[in-house]
Amino acid sequence: MRSVTGRQALLLPLEHPLGATIETLMAIRTILEFPDPRLRTRAQPVTRFDADLRRVIDDMLETMYAAPGIGLAATQVDVHQRLVVIDVSADRADPLVLVNPEILSREGETATEEGCLSVPGFFDEVTRASRIRVRAQDRDGNAFERDCEDLLAVCVQHEMDHIDGRLFVDYLSSLKRERVRKRLEKERKERAARSASETRGRGGEGPGKPPRERRSAL
Ligand code: NI
Repeated sequence: MRSVTGRQALLLPLEHPLGATIETLMAIRTILEFPDPRLRTRAQPVTRFDADLRRVIDDMLETMYAAPGIGLAATQVDVHQRLVVIDVSADRADPLVLVNPEILSREGETATEEGCLSVPGFFDEVTRASRIRVRAQDRDGNAFERDCEDLLAVCVQHEMDHIDGRLFVDYLSSLKRERVRKRLEKERKERAARSASETRGRGGEGPGKPPRERRSAL
């Protein structure tokens, strides 16, 4: 459903003997795209901190880094648990995992140009609190609190919206939202037509679409 970019394009075809193995290791999950109704699901609290949860977290991190994005909520990969992963660091080596996050306090205001892996290629300004204190659990269930500001604060709020079934386009006018919906629908049709013609044709020429502009998507 989403455009093939970056590391995903390096995957071997599944029929290749190594293809399935590599894909299993990388475990990049499909990201749901607006207006998929599953993105409107209110996620349930995580109650079991077990191997299944760790697997979902690892897959989400892999999916976020490969996209590439700076945050991903479980809702976006069709897992309806209160779980988000974030990495706003420049070297992409400081993952933050928030299980059952809650915002304890909000201060200030900041307007940021946001994007979203579920609304590919679209960016617009959203105003949110500039500083928040968040309480969450880590992947092992240990509770912690953390002060977040600037981009990290924005990202936490954006991802927490996802697990409540909200998208950043909900903050925009209905006219804009409708325009985005139509554009994504058109792109999906074009992609489907392209992949159908590639299957019929020579194949092997890789993704036919240039990568989208590289601004951070949350
Ligand atoms: Ni998002």
